[in-house]
Amino acid sequence: TLAHPNAYARASETAQHVLSKLPDTLQKPKVAIVCGSGLGGLADTIEAGPKVELPYETIPNFPQSTVQGHAGKFIFGVIGEQKMPVALLVGRAHFYEGHTMDLVTFATRVCKVLGVETIIVTNAAGGLNENYRVGDIVCLNDHLNLAGFVGIHPLRGPNIEEFGVRFPPMSDAYDLDLRRRVHKAWVKLGLDQQKRRIHEGVYAFLAGPSYETRAECRMLRMLGADVVGMSTVPEIVVARHAGIRVLAFSLVTNMAVLEPGARGNDSIIQAMNKSELDQYLGKGKANHEEVLEAGREAAKDMQALVKQILSDLHED
Ligand code: 6GU
Repeated sequence: TLAHPNAYARASETAQHVLSKLPDTLQKPKVAIVCGSGLGGLADTIEAGPKVELPYETIPNFPQSTVQGHAGKFIFGVIGEQKMPVALLVGRAHFYEGHTMDLVTFATRVCKVLGVETIIVTNAAGGLNENYRVGDIVCLNDHLNLAGFVGIHPLRGPNIEEFGVRFPPMSDAYDLDLRRRVHKAWVKLGLDQQKRRIHEGVYAFLAGPSYETRAECRMLRMLGADVVGMSTVPEIVVARHAGIRVLAFSLVTNMAVLEPGARGNDSIIQAMNKSELDQYLGKGKANHEEVLEAGREAAKDMQALVKQILSDLHED
């Protein structure tokens, strides 16, 4: 799980390969967008015009994704009337797939070498905050790197000086200026008039792949988490290490279950017949299909939001 000692050389080699496939107009993307589970629709933000798609399996050193609904490709194109060149990562490598942290964060480092200055990271997450509803969007303002606490950390190992310092701060990881722009864009688009809501919140990163137990959900809530998921934090840590500005969104695809089950289970088991019990235990169980479904619906709003932020960014 150590960082690859040649991480810089490897990322540079990959960046060179990618550049060799791009026309001049797409060579200098300043913004990269990572599309989470079911959020590949963000790719529709790309305008007609120059566009290059590179499937991950054709890119040297890139991790191959293994999860359904996570088809992997790097897309280069332009966004908005200003034809701003962007890089989209559709599908990402997760730690739970068995990849090392080094591979999980490799694409982020390739973006750095390509000259990316701002990264927009999206994911599907479970809602822990009682005020959230399925379909809401959370603009992250902080995280709990729980896997990092126990040593699963992308910067463990020799520091790669070409990217950044040994002990990078994370207290300013979620760029305040970008977060402000999100709220402005949300209002400007009239999305605040719709049933979907936007929040700011804290993302708890767990290695996965199992979803949380009820007790774990309550624990995460007590620790101050608003959403929970299995991605994003490694990429953000590596991006901040390399001085890339970060904006991150979670789409709440399901609500994590906070009511006690196990603690009250003895009395419940006695009081309920079998079908009542099955229903009780099945209620609120997380599953991959609902995660993908919520993503398909919300991708359009997320798309409009990202496009608006980018066009505002370009104006300034
Ligand atoms: Cl409920 N938990 C985790 N860890 N990841 C998720 C999720 C829940 N929902 C979507 N992704």
